[in-house]
Amino acid sequence: MKNVLVTGGAGYIGSHTVVSLVEQGFYPVVVDDLRSSSSLILEGLSTLVKDGYTFHREDVCDLDSMTRLFQEYRFDAVIHFAAYKSVGDSCEEPLKYYHNNLLGLINILGLCRDFCIPKFVFSSSCTVYGEPDEKQVYEHTPKRLPESPYGFTKWMGEQIIEDLHRNVVPFQTLCLRYFNPIGAHPSGMIGELPKGIPNNLLPYITQTATGELSSLTIFGDDYPTPDGTCIRDYVHVCDVADAHVQSLFFSDPNPLCFFNIGTGCGSSVLEMVRLFEQVSGKTLPYTIGKRRKGDITEIFANVNASKNLLGWSAKRTVEDAIRDAWNWEQRRNKTHD
Ligand code: UFG
Repeated sequence: MKNVLVTGGAGYIGSHTVVSLVEQGFYPVVVDDLRSSSSLILEGLSTLVKDGYTFHREDVCDLDSMTRLFQEYRFDAVIHFAAYKSVGDSCEEPLKYYHNNLLGLINILGLCRDFCIPKFVFSSSCTVYGEPDEKQVYEHTPKRLPESPYGFTKWMGEQIIEDLHRNVVPFQTLCLRYFNPIGAHPSGMIGELPKGIPNNLLPYITQTATGELSSLTIFGDDYPTPDGTCIRDYVHVCDVADAHVQSLFFSDPNPLCFFNIGTGCGSSVLEMVRLFEQVSGKTLPYTIGKRRKGDITEIFANVNASKNLLGWSAKRTVEDAIRDAWNWEQRRNKTHD
């Protein structure tokens, strides 16, 4: 059985990846200090995968404890999720973002080099494309400067990895550029757990539907799109998780590869609201507000490379993702009652 270090494995995408890894016969070693997660996710994980993984409550920025972990296990691969991810927060507290996201990455990369770990998978984001000229972005679409410190940590993370790969390093790196992961595990045992008021669309929608929030504000309906609202490529989190497992099977002479992780199709904010209403049978209260600073009009992935080279494509629909997110939200609500 292959040991896979999963940093941030109690987080949103991390926890779903742990489940996929166990299903595919890997043994995930999760490192998470739970600052952005909760024991609810660990309980859900234990229900889903029993003792198929191990958990260490540690901070990736603590080099001594990370070194001890690399001494304790022989990792066949490392998947690095541990990072802050709120665009808005990162504008308020840029140093916190640069410190955590970059120091954690540098620590883990250095250990992968020193311990000759063959494979490294980095959580990147379509934010590295900034506001692109074309709505559909390829992996070779030129990177643009992002709008937020969070975006910069992903942009700089890729740069650090590229610079490291200018010299020979004993591992292959895959940078997975996620589009908009949504949804939850179909069991309702794990899902997205934003702290405080959600920034992202789908948790905002589901918390509005339960009555936890009073109404959704759609940030602008005057964009140059068919219904005036922004368009994004929403991809089921279980599909995103599967992309990481597929990365471990990926073999290619190229030591550094980048892949778009999306569906290749865009949906507008209003389409998401309508789909949610269909799937849940609920009417969603919403108002149209001002544009949100930093939002781009439209972006979706070109998925040829992830399909043909990585051998991965999204299998679940946006409706599946919305149904699973709604199931998770209702269960989470009950657990908190
Ligand atoms: N939206 C609303 N109301 C809300 C929340 C979101 O109208 O309350 C809209 C946004 O304006 C946007 C769309 O829903 O048009 C999606 O917004 P999200 O915040 O869910 O996602 P973003 O596309 O803004 O951000 C995502 C990731 C970031 C990443 C970024 C890169 O969450 O991590 O894509 O483009 F940096």
